[in-house]
Formats: sequence, C-alpha cells, structure tokens
Amino acid sequence: MPWSDAVGDLRNRLVADPEFRKSAKAFAPTRGAARENARALFDLMAGFVYTQTVLACTQIDLFSFLKDGPRTIPEVAGHGDLPLDGATRLVRAAASIALLEPRHGGRYALGRLGAALVDEPGLAAMIEHHRLFYEDLMDPLALLRCERKGRLAEFWGYGEESGHAGRPDAYSQLMADTLPMVAEEVFAACDLSRYSKLLDVGGGEGAFLCEVAAVAPALELELFDLPPVAERARAKLKEKGLDARAQVHGGSFLTDSLPQGADLISLVRIIHDHTDEDAKTILSACRKAIRPGGTLLLAEPMADAPGAAPMGDAYFGFYLLAMGGGRARPAERLTEMLHEAGFEGVRVRRSRIPLITDVITARAHSS
Ligand SMILES: C[S@@+](CC[C@H](N)C(=O)[O-])C[C@H]1O[C@@H](n2cnc3c(N)ncnc32)[C@H](O)[C@@H]1O
Repeated sequence: MPWSDAVGDLRNRLVADPEFRKSAKAFAPTRGAARENARALFDLMAGFVYTQTVLACTQIDLFSFLKDGPRTIPEVAGHGDLPLDGATRLVRAAASIALLEPRHGGRYALGRLGAALVDEPGLAAMIEHHRLFYEDLMDPLALLRCERKGRLAEFWGYGEESGHAGRPDAYSQLMADTLPMVAEEVFAACDLSRYSKLLDVGGGEGAFLCEVAAVAPALELELFDLPPVAERARAKLKEKGLDARAQVHGGSFLTDSLPQGADLISLVRIIHDHTDEDAKTILSACRKAIRPGGTLLLAEPMADAPGAAPMGDAYFGFYLLAMGGGRARPAERLTEMLHEAGFEGVRVRRSRIPLITDVITARAHSS
C-alpha cells in the first residue's frame, strides 16, 4: 500500500473515533485542527444558505447599491423593500461571508467578495440562473439515478434530439452575458490575429465573434449553431454592424457537415455539454471541415485544472448531468479525443483563471 494511503487510513481511523474527537478538542495542540475540521464540515452543510444569501443580495441589486459607499440597514431595507428585521439578517449574513463588511456608525460597505461582484453581469446572470440548478439538486439521488427530467434539461433542451433547443432565447442570453470573461482568457492564451478565417462552432448568438472582431480586425468570421440560435446570431451581428464580415449557418453539428475552409475552428464551452459519443462526432466534423494545417481551439473548464477539483468534479459533475449527460474532462482525456479525431500538435494552455476556462489548441495535418 502506498504510504499516503496508509497515512490517510490512520487519520480516518482516528477522526472516526468519537473518543479521539473528544480528546482532540480538549487537548490544546490539536484543538486548532479540530476546530478547523468542524468549521469545514459546517460550511459543507450550510453551503446552500450562503448561496441563497448571494442570490438575495443580487436580487435586490445590493452590490451596486453599495458601490458608492457604505449604507445603514434602514437604507438597505428601503432599497430592497425589506422589513427592518429582514434587512438586518441579510446584511449580517452577507457580512459573515465577506460579501459585505461592517463600518463605523452601524453602516455596511462592500466586502472583499461583494466588491468583486460589482458590474459583473455574467456572474449576476449565473447566480440568478442557479435557481433552476438548485431545484434539480433538491433530490440529488433522483438526479444521479436519472429518474426525471429536471429544470436544467428543460432550459438547455438540446440534449434530446439534434436540431432541437430548449429555451434558446434564455440560454443564448446567459451565454452572451458570461462570454466576455471566457474570451478574455482565450485571448490571453492565444493570438487569433494570425489566422484568416474563423468558424465558431456552437457560437450561440455571436458573442465570441463580436469579441474576436475587435482583437483581430482582419479575420473573416463564420458561425454555426442550431437554426433558432443562428437566427438570433444573424440579428445580433447585424446590430453590431458585423453582418458584412460574418456569415451565419444554421444546422446541427451532430448530423450536418460544417462549412468548409476555415483555418481556425473554435469550440467554446461546447464539448463538455456532450457525451463521449457526441463529443467524438463534433470533433470529427471539425476535422473534416478545417483547412489542412488549420488550428482547432477548444476552450472550456477542465476537470484537472490545478486547484479547481470542486469546480470540475462537484459543480460541473452535477450541472452537466442535470443538463443532459455531459462532463468536464481532464485535459489529458480531451487530448486523447483530439488525437482520435485526427488532430496533432495538441497543446494545453492553462489559463489564468481555470475556473472560467482552460484552452487547448490542436493542428490538422497539412497534407
Ligand atoms: C453552452 S452554449 C455555448 C455557446 C457559446 N459557444 C459560448 O461559449 O457562449 C452551447 C451552444 O451549442 C449549441 N448547440 C447545442 N447543440 C447543438 C447542435 N446539435 N448543433 C449545433 N449547435 C448546437 C447551443 O445552441 C449553444 O449555443
């Protein structure tokens, strides 16, 4: 048995013994560790209360309200249409988890975490969207046993049949709201201006293309998505004055061929939505469509990103199951899948914030 397993087993035998736990609390040198364990366990049990505290703050737009300086509890109550006692509980709860912090004169200001939520429409949209996920998680075993279709499956909908989408207006808006932070990480990892034509596969309503248009002004742009989403993309790109530069195609990447000839194909937050079988179909469709020597760019959160295990295994593990059966994969597994689809020169480019996305590039043979 490796020594690390033996150490883990010994620790578990000790901590699982009620007598040991009692003496660990009583004995000064082990009291700190016992307290820390109890606190971590409490956080696991109470996590849903913290989540709903953030939701309540977001719903009354509290972080923007405090952006210009601290406010008293009666002011928060007036702003959020809450009774004084409700506002007091909310403000104190938010202060206990670093969303707010108390200031002199009974006022409250933004805390370290609350300040990071100001003017972040993508995060606010995700916090609001998590209400659906929260409903699906009410019965985690039913979710794991795939016993019923949940709210996320209805919302996304495209897991069921190709060409079909659940609520394309709502999910496209959510994706567009959260895309800028992903694009920022992609641009920090790769220079897109050295390509001539980009095809964004599953490009939603064109938010990624709009960001790319600004950093790579000479790049020709193409987008492929389900017909109702492609329709939205046409309207959005026109609104942004990009209709002459960007071509939009409607279809399914599971059953239709992709437009040929781009020397750069992007899959932004696509592969993790799908089962292994569908992911292989999508990668192989990209391989057939890409210009010889072209580059495939895959950007999504990956399961083995350093320090992001709870994000990959807990958050995305459950989220993508509720949505329809996808998974966050380790970069190593994605690399294997890219090789199987006929790509080479695979490079994993860890982003600065792997919670948001990591990036992999791969080359298609030039022959
Ligand atoms: C998670 S969203 C990502 C959108 C965009 N790439 C982004 O990151 O903002 C997945 C996208 O894949 C599209 N999609 C799902 N199934 C599809 C299919 N069979 N064919 C084409 N597009 C599909 C959805 O309509 C949606 O726009």
